[in-house]
Amino acid sequence: MLSHNDNEILCRVGPGTPGGALMRRYWHPVCTSAQLPHPDCAPLRVRLLGENYVVFRDTEGKVGFLEELCMHRGASLALGRVEEGGIRCLYHGWKFSVSGAVMETPNHADPKYAARMKAPAFPAREEGGIVWAYVGPLELLPAFSHYAFMDSAPNNRVVLRVNVACNYLQLVEGGEDSSHVGVLHTNMARPGWKDDEFTPNPDVVNPAALASNDLEPALKIEDTAFGFHYVALRKTADPRVRNARVVPFIVPYGRIIPAPAFQFTVLEVPEDDTHTSTYIVVHGDAPVTEEKIIELLGLNDPKYYDRKNCTFSASWMDTFGQNRELMKENWTGLRGVEVEDATIGLSQGPLYDRSREHLVPADQAVVRVRRVLLDAIKRVMENRQPPALGLDLRGVSACDRQLEDGTAWQDLLPGHRQTVTA
Ligand code: FES
Ligand SMILES: [Fe+2]
Repeated sequence: MLSHNDNEILCRVGPGTPGGALMRRYWHPVCTSAQLPHPDCAPLRVRLLGENYVVFRDTEGKVGFLEELCMHRGASLALGRVEEGGIRCLYHGWKFSVSGAVMETPNHADPKYAARMKAPAFPAREEGGIVWAYVGPLELLPAFSHYAFMDSAPNNRVVLRVNVACNYLQLVEGGEDSSHVGVLHTNMARPGWKDDEFTPNPDVVNPAALASNDLEPALKIEDTAFGFHYVALRKTADPRVRNARVVPFIVPYGRIIPAPAFQFTVLEVPEDDTHTSTYIVVHGDAPVTEEKIIELLGLNDPKYYDRKNCTFSASWMDTFGQNRELMKENWTGLRGVEVEDATIGLSQGPLYDRSREHLVPADQAVVRVRRVLLDAIKRVMENRQPPALGLDLRGVSACDRQLEDGTAWQDLLPGHRQTVTA
């Protein structure tokens, strides 16, 4: 369990909070590139760490990230016109470039006035099919962390965003919790479960396709420059060999989950204390399509996913679409990895109070997430540098392999110990 106070420190991310101060030291995804599909397309309203912004793509294709409300008298720029190298407020026509330069102020046409002004704009860039922004103190702007998926050929990569109405930490903890995979995702992890037979799932894209039906994995954890990595060791038919599933936690909310032939990089970006944008990036050495991933995640059903707004739409209003009849054959009565994960996260409530939980050894990686984040928050409060700023993460990945007794699990992914600054 976690004290109520520590729970608050970890979960609250708004301006002026300790957790918010930590989060404001990193670059964050703010939308997918596909959400800004062409120059001068419609802008998007973005909620990030409890504050509102607008993101847009200008005539040259460059992305800009500004405070949502116009600096003149506060109309929303998310309603604005994007044209001729900037975004123009509807109210009185003030126009701003991606860097925040005030290009025109039609109701006060003196150019010297505009030249003196600067709109609140933030560093923004586009990498790996995602638009990223930094909203922290400019003097502390970190180098940009480079993930392996950013080097992937576009045909071998899918980027999805799923907005889920609960606190980010619930979703992060689900991702660092190997023991839930064989239970919550039973139908994908252990397809023969009804007959008490273990039939491995042949789908090489499915991250819940386990190579063992051991429900009580032994966890081992090691701290790294990016946060930590841990292994879940499961028994196999050969007593000298165990199945080893290694997953990294990248401060402040990242993970990589292994599928047999692909990697799932997942970033749980806090919109505010009770809303999260989950970015799921799938990449590998072979082509993969958005349709395949959407189906695998269970998001091809409009009951669960609004593709236009990237929003997970099921709720208690319809008991998450759970089908009790289906549960004779299907563990959850739901369908798809993300539908199951998001539903469980939402079922914990908008912001779960961990002071009433009962932990077991299989929850060790969840506990480590909290410890690493609390320590990082403490460092920021003491004006020290938090971990994982500006790293070269190209050597960081996840794996699911067989491990003979006497072999070090850390040697499965040697890049984790070698990770250094970008
Ligand atoms: S409020 Fe935006 S131009 Fe006046
Ligand atoms: Fe899961």
